[in-house]
Amino acid sequence: MTGTLYGVSLGPGDPGLITRRAWALLERRDSVWTYPVRSLRKDSYALDIALRGGLEPPAQHQALLFPMTHDVEKLARHWLKAAETVRALLARGQDVLFLVEGDASTYASFGYLARVLRELDANARIEVVAGVNSFNAACARLQMPLSEQDDTIAIVPAAYGIAAVEKMLDDFDTLVLMKVKPLLDDLIDLLARRGLLAHSRFVEKAGSPVERVVLDVGSLKGATVNYLSLLLVRNPLRQRGELQRGCRKKTSTELEEEQQESEAL
Ligand SMILES: C[S@@+](CC[C@H](N)C(=O)[O-])C[C@H]1O[C@@H](n2cnc3c(N)ncnc32)[C@H](O)[C@@H]1O
Repeated sequence: MTGTLYGVSLGPGDPGLITRRAWALLERRDSVWTYPVRSLRKDSYALDIALRGGLEPPAQHQALLFPMTHDVEKLARHWLKAAETVRALLARGQDVLFLVEGDASTYASFGYLARVLRELDANARIEVVAGVNSFNAACARLQMPLSEQDDTIAIVPAAYGIAAVEKMLDDFDTLVLMKVKPLLDDLIDLLARRGLLAHSRFVEKAGSPVERVVLDVGSLKGATVNYLSLLLVRNPLRQRGELQRGCRKKTSTELEEEQQESEAL
């Protein structure tokens, strides 16, 4: 019998946010741990979360290389190599845990691994263990609601550029800007121009021992930040359209019915 590949979400940094399901899988001694690294010389942030939680890797564990590059051919080569490695382990009947920082369904290399594995073997057994993602943890840390009532939220890699982010400021109450590192200064300029710096927060390595929360986002101008950082922006000035249905808006039929009821009294 072939094994199962598990996408094991570990949350963004605090081992206390590892779910019971993920924890139970990680405690098993009979599976193989795999985890993504950007370079074979770099440590795995996901593995570090598990180790800080006091979990012990099984005898067999191995890094899988997912380089940070936009070179499509290079990426495809590495995804294929990772999927072939996992496929060989599964074929031997071993269950494989792929450790994921944050949530396995949110901008995670697990998505590529699972897709290529399915391309190699349409019958591959795969399970995804849901987890806490970075922006949920960041909101909790800041005691800042991600959304309330009829708020709209956009989760956006900042790489779409300043013009795209500016447009979204008009359409969404909350922007979660991921992967902000290369564009941080430009984003700060945009937020200053739109009067939104006071409504913005920066969180780096949420939940880890070196977590950094910055309330004065303007103070980050010119600073170098870690790749694992994000911006949360609430736009209280957003012009809302009419709601057809929603928590705060009654439909015209409901309003008419209410009026008829009050007239009947
Ligand atoms: C490849 S995505 C991984 C997302 C992750 N799977 C999740 O569920 O949040 C990497 C981006 O997520 C955000 N991120 C991930 N972990 C983070 C953390 N611990 N603290 C702050 N931002 C984080 C950053 O914007 C980073 O550039």
